[in-house]
Amino acid sequence: MASWLLFAVFSCLLLLPEPAFGITRHYTLDIKMHNVTRLCHTKSLVSVNGKFPGPKIIAREGDQLLIKVVNNVPNNISLHWHGIRQLRSGWADGPAYITQCPIQTGQSYVYNYTIVGQRGTLWYHAHISWLRATVYGPLIILPKHGVPYPFPKPHKEVPMVFGEWFNADTEAIIRQATLTGGGPNVSDAYTINGLPGPLYNCSAKDTFRLRVKPGKTYLLRIINAALNDELFFSIANHTVTVVEADAIYVKPFETDTILIAPGQTTNVLLKTKPSYPSASFFMKARPYVTGQGTFDNSTVAGILEYEQPKHAKTSIKNLQLFTPVLPALNDTNYATKFSNKLRSLNSKKFPANVPQKVDRKFFFTVGLGTNPCNHKNNQTCQGPTNTTMFAASISNISFTMPTKALLQSHYSGLSNGVYSPNFPWNPTPFNYTGTPPNNTMVSTGTNLMVLRYNTSVELVMQDTSILGAESHPLHLHGFNFFVVGQGFGNFDPKKDPKNFNLVDPIERNTVGVPSGGWAAIRFLADNPGVWFMHCHLEVHTSWGLRMAWLVLDGDKPDQKLLPPPADLPKC
Ligand code: C2O
Repeated sequence: MASWLLFAVFSCLLLLPEPAFGITRHYTLDIKMHNVTRLCHTKSLVSVNGKFPGPKIIAREGDQLLIKVVNNVPNNISLHWHGIRQLRSGWADGPAYITQCPIQTGQSYVYNYTIVGQRGTLWYHAHISWLRATVYGPLIILPKHGVPYPFPKPHKEVPMVFGEWFNADTEAIIRQATLTGGGPNVSDAYTINGLPGPLYNCSAKDTFRLRVKPGKTYLLRIINAALNDELFFSIANHTVTVVEADAIYVKPFETDTILIAPGQTTNVLLKTKPSYPSASFFMKARPYVTGQGTFDNSTVAGILEYEQPKHAKTSIKNLQLFTPVLPALNDTNYATKFSNKLRSLNSKKFPANVPQKVDRKFFFTVGLGTNPCNHKNNQTCQGPTNTTMFAASISNISFTMPTKALLQSHYSGLSNGVYSPNFPWNPTPFNYTGTPPNNTMVSTGTNLMVLRYNTSVELVMQDTSILGAESHPLHLHGFNFFVVGQGFGNFDPKKDPKNFNLVDPIERNTVGVPSGGWAAIRFLADNPGVWFMHCHLEVHTSWGLRMAWLVLDGDKPDQKLLPPPADLPKC
């Protein structure tokens, strides 16, 4: 065929409108080892397609995704599509031993799901042990064709993924901590798109640079994929407009600093200076910390660079570099103010469907605790005392991971000995945020909260002061929820509900339960399956701050969990 003809045919194909319903998109993610050097340390890490961070996955609302994950590493693997609702397709959700057995070395599994009623910035990550330290990437859902954003169309869209870099092997770190009962070693650096930036030793060449033109608007799709740290983020001499959180449009507001917890995403519009500023600007992130343990108190920096006019006098390297002022590491005041600004857009097109009536109310405590040291022959542990190991719990139950996947056990009716369907609807009362009780021991179990289809749920999550109050970013799989209330101290069931926002509360999939306080959420259990809920600080999840909901099938055919795919991994 003559090349002009080829060209003509090709152009026609490009011009064909995409169908109004979604298309099917195929991805292959090859989980393989890959050498990466940061801070002058080279390590072989588990990667997606030999990329760190992993490649961007892009789809449109309504599309079906068929993502083949091939395990070419020695570790067991599973991937989670954080924030995807997985309506009736719980088999594709990904948390190991919850909705699937892990994919073993040499095996593969096709995650098959359709994106229904969602658009925005989400992400994917490994969901087994600490492998998400290096296995993560953006999952971007564009609106349906012809559907605009509820804000001016940006000139460009840029994913900015925060992560944590460890010189050591993160699997060894968590293994060690589990053995000793102590706190795991902290990271050596924070990263933006895998790059720690110039404030660390031997790192200047690994700096994320955002090159912009003056007078334009950029959409930054910010994702916090860090393992254990909430982050403040700010750009020198620029304010941003927050327009979306956890793939939900919000009432736009301006700020110079955002707070983002692990698991959360935030879209902001960055309006660049109207003309060439003859300067560059640091973009910095550092943690917001409320706990008692050691943490990585370093700062990641990227650089916002303006495209130079042709006859610029100073070379870009010699420009003045402005730096932002970030809140103090423990600035809970700022954190509270920021989270109070977040409101659902609640427009005609994007209404906030807050459950107005509640079928079941639950009250869970979230916090730390201890287990007895399990070492034989006088060996001591490195928990809060040398006879204890760190633990964490929901309602004092530290969740034990099953050895069979919960969803399969439920579906096949073989749940006996795998889980107990009796998660308590409230804990034994005590002064949750006062002087902690003398006995800090947790109990252990694999307990599920069972809900009938379409139950409207209100859940209050109360932080405890056991081993110190701390902010916990709680993530719920399978649903978005509305954060109807938040406060400090002990939740008051008489007074506090009067102040609930049932009009335009923020809708999200991960909420920071305030340090020494509580958060109240509502959601409609309209998605049958087993849904993990856990603190997105990986160290707390490892210690047991996790549980699962079992939402039963409804009566109608379209209210039932789909049958499991044939290639679902076996345990
Ligand atoms: Cu992003 Cu179960 O987590």
